[in-house]
Amino acid sequence: APIVARTVAELKGLLRERRERAPGLQTGLVPTMGYLHDGHGSLIRRSAAENGLTVLSIFVNPLQFGPTEDLDRYPRDEARDLEVARREGADIVFMPSVEEMYPRRPLTRVLVSDVTEALCGASRPGHFDGVGTVVAKLFHLVAPTKAYFGLKDAQQVAVVRQMADDLNFDVEIVPCPTLREPDGLALSSRNVYLSPEQRAEALVLSRTLDKAKQWASEPGMTAGELQRRAREAILRSPLADIDYAELRLYPSLAAIPPEQPLSAALGQSEALLALAVKFGGTRLIDNAIFPKK
Ligand code: PAJ
Repeated sequence: APIVARTVAELKGLLRERRERAPGLQTGLVPTMGYLHDGHGSLIRRSAAENGLTVLSIFVNPLQFGPTEDLDRYPRDEARDLEVARREGADIVFMPSVEEMYPRRPLTRVLVSDVTEALCGASRPGHFDGVGTVVAKLFHLVAPTKAYFGLKDAQQVAVVRQMADDLNFDVEIVPCPTLREPDGLALSSRNVYLSPEQRAEALVLSRTLDKAKQWASEPGMTAGELQRRAREAILRSPLADIDYAELRLYPSLAAIPPEQPLSAALGQSEALLALAVKFGGTRLIDNAIFPKK
């Protein structure tokens, strides 16, 4: 079973001990907010396979939630999370309290510009400042060799990469594929909020992404037309309320002119079709990455 560290001092003590015993030990870090599912599990497994030591962090970070968001009702299940951590091969589970991570009101933020201006950065003001700040703290505390992030949050991967590069963190950011339910729904801790009707309609996200991959290969397809079709497909679900459905260059997240042929955009870089759709009070995200030609 993994060792649980609830304080910074405990975590640092454990890391020092392990590193003294095994110099050159490679450390993998898997940052999460808990309520672990197999998407998180896949990150932990990969880290355990690639590193001598795997640190899983579980912390629902208040800094990245807006005032009207679901911080207070974010799902939690510590016992089950520890069981997943054990099964997937985590060595240390760092699960600090809010007071431990932010003992005084923090006056410092890590702000990443440009890549945070669209998509979730636009609809959740301050969200990525909170993510950048907590991930920078975790990188300082753990000093990982590699850190594992899911591409389900593709913009988060771009933000964390940029932040680690800009601030010279000596860590390799490892992007990991999105795990899905057998019917296609991307695994998410927030899926538990969905009613059976909403759960059924939520399939519109992955289905739209699948269709978009076919549309993308039509000759003459433009960025604007692909985006328009995606929106139209989602709007056919009566319970779906679109927050955004946008095609952008990846990882820059720069806009693509709507009249531009997709083939021209993909000559420059990869592209990301990113969807955020609300079902009642539950906001789901999903995306597809189109490879560079
Ligand atoms: P959380 O939403 O708990 O996600 C933790 C990690 O699991 C993220 O890297 C996320 O992209 C990944 N993940 C979530 N669903 C996945 C899926 N279906 N397949 C593969 N990976 C998946 O993302 C956060 O927490 C926070 O913002 C955090 C980075 C921990 C900072 O607080």
